[in-house]
Amino acid sequence: MKPFEPERLPPKELDLLALMPLAGKANRAIATLEGLFYGIPNPNVLLSPITTQEAVLSSKIEGTQADLEDVLKFEAGEPPSEPSRCEDIHEIMNYRKALRLSEKLLEDRPFCLNSLLRLHEVLMDSVRGHNKGRGHFRTLQNWIGTPNSPIEEASFVPPSPFELQDHLNHWEAYWHSDAPDVLVQLALVHAQFEILHPFIDGNGRLGRMVIPLFLFEKKILSRPCFYLSAFFDAHRDEYIARLRALGQPGSWTRWGAFFLEGVAIQAEANTNKARAIQDIYERLKKQVLELTHSQFAVPLLDFMFERPIFRGSDVTHLDQMPSAPMVATLLAKLKQNGILHTVREGAGRRPQVLALAELINLCEGRKVL
Ligand SMILES: Nc1ncnc2c1ncn2[C@@H]1O[C@H](COP(=O)(O)OP(=O)(O)O)[C@@H](O)[C@H]1O
Ligand SMILES: [Mg+2]
Repeated sequence: MKPFEPERLPPKELDLLALMPLAGKANRAIATLEGLFYGIPNPNVLLSPITTQEAVLSSKIEGTQADLEDVLKFEAGEPPSEPSRCEDIHEIMNYRKALRLSEKLLEDRPFCLNSLLRLHEVLMDSVRGHNKGRGHFRTLQNWIGTPNSPIEEASFVPPSPFELQDHLNHWEAYWHSDAPDVLVQLALVHAQFEILHPFIDGNGRLGRMVIPLFLFEKKILSRPCFYLSAFFDAHRDEYIARLRALGQPGSWTRWGAFFLEGVAIQAEANTNKARAIQDIYERLKKQVLELTHSQFAVPLLDFMFERPIFRGSDVTHLDQMPSAPMVATLLAKLKQNGILHTVREGAGRRPQVLALAELINLCEGRKVL
């Protein structure tokens, strides 16, 4: 099988006109999400669980088994029920770190290929990332196929390493070009990135990570907080099949339609979720203030939204918090009133572990706690 020779973007056969109705729908859904961001007073706090969930789902598409609850418990010092999930959790936490870094990178300068290398370095900072050219574009021929199978049996062979840099330069130029529709442009950017497969590993995750970044840089969203992995995960086979088909007649338009449909569905889902989180926040704020009459109620609530599973001692160590006994009284009140659930009772020197179960269940879309 010979290396794929990709066409430069935009592909000649792309039928932009045919995509316009779907693009209109997707653009409207994104605009609604953007409107919601404007109304949120503390987006970093409220959108934090959505970001962690994206890290979970994007990694899951590549085979990790750990879920949101595993990650949140791990952060509170609780090991996962299955030890094999430790590495998964590590990768998911790297993913979230890279997502957060991506926004910072754009503060310094426009997106460039170097930004990709920085993100790859953070993403692959783990045992599994060793020997995988962490932070470097590949200099070898790679291929996609069943694990350990030879290149002859590959289902797809990305472009030759000798031509990779040239393709990446064109890809970057297209990213910065003015296209008739930004969402169609993004569909092409993601797919071409996967075709180029510029890294030994991590291409799927990085390719999905740049989706919110692109919309943020193009000023379509004021927060880089729009995620497609839930859609790709729910339609995993179609996602891969549509990528694999690229290059065949009509394939780019079909890929574009699939991507735009995903944007419309996920923008609506992200909007609903962010709205529901905001509702919980407002309701709990009132409730916690009434229960505690404490000046610490709001900082405590903000902390719980960023760390929905936590140790009692984590709270004591926060800035602006009162003494440990007072914190214990505050937390006990929230427990008595069903706002916090006990994940593990404290015993001896082991602190109690608590959870804001309502928020976790909402993010997971099912009752997990
Ligand atoms: N035939 C294909 N053509 C282009 N891209 C593909 C194809 N098959 C899979 N992909 C993309 O490659 C990704 C997997 O690549 P990989 O480097 O292993 O990502 P990760 O390390 O994040 O696991 C998939 O998520 C998908 O986006
Ligand atoms: Mg992989």
